[in-house]
Amino acid sequence: MNYLNKKSVEDIDVAGKKVLVRCDFNVPFDAEGNISDPKRINEALKTIKYLIDHKAKVILCSHLGRPKGEFNMKYSLAPVAAYLSKALGQEVKMAKDVIGESAKGIAASLQEGEVELIENVRFHKEEEKNDPAFAKELASMADIYVNDAFGTAHRAHASTAGVAAYLPAVCGFLIQKEITIMGGALADPKRPFVAILGGAKVSDKIGVINNLLEKVDTLIIGGGMAYTFMNAMGYSVGTSICEADKVDLAKDMMAKAKEKGVKFLIPIDNIVADKYAADAAFQTVDSDKIPDGWMGLDIGPKTAELFSDAIKGAGTVVWNGPMGVSEWENFANGTIAVAKAVAESGAISIIGGGDSAAAVEKLGFADKMTHISTGGGASLEFLEGLELPGIACLNEKE
Ligand code: 3PG
Repeated sequence: MNYLNKKSVEDIDVAGKKVLVRCDFNVPFDAEGNISDPKRINEALKTIKYLIDHKAKVILCSHLGRPKGEFNMKYSLAPVAAYLSKALGQEVKMAKDVIGESAKGIAASLQEGEVELIENVRFHKEEEKNDPAFAKELASMADIYVNDAFGTAHRAHASTAGVAAYLPAVCGFLIQKEITIMGGALADPKRPFVAILGGAKVSDKIGVINNLLEKVDTLIIGGGMAYTFMNAMGYSVGTSICEADKVDLAKDMMAKAKEKGVKFLIPIDNIVADKYAADAAFQTVDSDKIPDGWMGLDIGPKTAELFSDAIKGAGTVVWNGPMGVSEWENFANGTIAVAKAVAESGAISIIGGGDSAAAVEKLGFADKMTHISTGGGASLEFLEGLELPGIACLNEKE
């Protein structure tokens, strides 16, 4: 998908205009109710500051969680407004509703450079249905629509796509950055192009593997999904995750890789555990020697070396999904080794996906990567080559 010709905030005059900005403020909270990872909010600041500096009247909107179409203050965006007020050094006026008196009243009274945040758009069931009347109501508050919610660009909802039918519609700097870096890497990668895929299930990544097999020089498979491939090679995988109905597909993918001359690497050894627990007993075994009753929870040291060697000479690396259960110390070494290899490779490095991004941040390698995507599902669909409705709906440059 090539979205490089989409108009951005810089291609439109925003001075004095009411600008509805869709952000992805779907951030995690800790047990005390504090925002535990504000990356998505921080990444939205560039567009918001640009609009403030260029005298726009800024109306921010987002979803948070999945409140199922009902007003539920557990999912209120008020903590995001408080965070934004501090980050911007000015008050962000929090509305009590989405398209009601409060949201519309604040929007109508905004002065140039002022900012409002309306409530969680998913408090209305019409949002996820992409209901045209609801989209029109949202649009009625503004003169211009800016979508900067890359993390939600794979959803065709009223605030991410429908609203674009009623207003001039452009992207913000975050979407622009995501599509330029990821789109550029997919369209014209610096070679060798190495993709690393992990995570639990093959079924989540079928489209991505198929699309990447057309583009990469090396495909590395780790994480839970690797056991379906090992099974396809005839190995017994004990109690590891294995999708029996995907074994034939795994065989087809390995055959396709061979046919295309793509180097296809799966683990040659593993850290296996006697149960799925952080404190489980564990041992290192080769892939053809996984004992009955044991499950693979990480790649082994020989595999870490094999994968690191393949990453070392890369020109471009795209990584989605951890190599093991990286949140548990005993099963994090594979992910750490791969993160280190990517960080030291000197390659253009793109980390997509919620889990791999979180692992890279937690392990302290974030500042060594070229780009960490703010999209989980959205970056996967982008790597799959699927259309992203939240970007497809935006206006093209003439
Ligand atoms: C995400 O966290 O991936 C996005 O904010 C989209 O959220 P959703 O999966 O609830 O649509």
